[in-house]
Amino acid sequence: MKIDYKETTSDLLKRIDIHNKFGGRDIDKWMLDIIKLKKGDKILDVGCGAGKQCFSYFNYLEGDASITGGDISDELLSQARSENKKINDAITFMTLNFNRPFDLPDNTFDFESCCFAIYYAEDIPFTIREMHRVLKPGGRLFSTGPMPTNKQLFYDVIREATGKPIPPMPGSSRYESQILASMRDIFSSVEVNVFENPLTFESAEPFIEYTRASLSEDRRLWTSFFNDKNEFEEIMKKIQAVAEKRIKAEGKLVMTKVVGGFLATK
Ligand SMILES: C[S@@+](CC[C@H](N)C(=O)[O-])C[C@H]1O[C@@H](n2cnc3c(N)ncnc32)[C@H](O)[C@@H]1O
Repeated sequence: MKIDYKETTSDLLKRIDIHNKFGGRDIDKWMLDIIKLKKGDKILDVGCGAGKQCFSYFNYLEGDASITGGDISDELLSQARSENKKINDAITFMTLNFNRPFDLPDNTFDFESCCFAIYYAEDIPFTIREMHRVLKPGGRLFSTGPMPTNKQLFYDVIREATGKPIPPMPGSSRYESQILASMRDIFSSVEVNVFENPLTFESAEPFIEYTRASLSEDRRLWTSFFNDKNEFEEIMKKIQAVAEKRIKAEGKLVMTKVVGGFLATK
């Protein structure tokens, strides 16, 4: 499945900022409690973006680890590298296209992660096999992605504003089904964890910012919605009106992120 998707630095960082400001729970802490990293671990983060998970591992392990982050986006990698300067380039950031064989040897890493990225792979089993190949025997992969009930409010508001059905999203429509099944086929065991984080908005503005940061590049995934450039702003106005109406009626908007964390062992 070819997915025409390109994350921009500003959209990704905007969504991370809104999760931090309006969410009640910390996903990094949830993840660190599950994965139980050990000092000295050799770690690879696939689809590392601006390095969120790499820096979280570095801080948790107080720098005592060998951490590599790989991503296809030059823009996000340069953001990660500029942050990396603050810790004397302690993390290695490399170009990695997970649709191609990884330029990394077999049986190398103790731990690997792939957060909110696997569902953009063209051939999911191929990418999971590559992640499996570079792990040491007994090594673990932690993958995160949206469950089917993720951010229902976001889709409800868009559905009400447009009167159109929501197209199947590459993540939430497949993560708990096809992608989990593929991990189960390739790894010897997979444990499923679920993280729920309600984001509470008392005004429409941050919800609209979040919507823009989700839809601006993703527009190409919503082909039935946006046929020309002007349509985007028109639809955003309708979304804003529905969000404002709901806040007036209910006092707030609560959008719950529902994330699956699949911990697989080689
Ligand atoms: C939603 S972002 C998540 C980034 C990061 N893991 C985080 O949680 O902040 C998805 C990431 O997948 C990356 N990605 C998409 N296609 C890729 C590919 N073919 N190879 C490697 N990374 C890819 C994007 O560049 C982006 O950094």
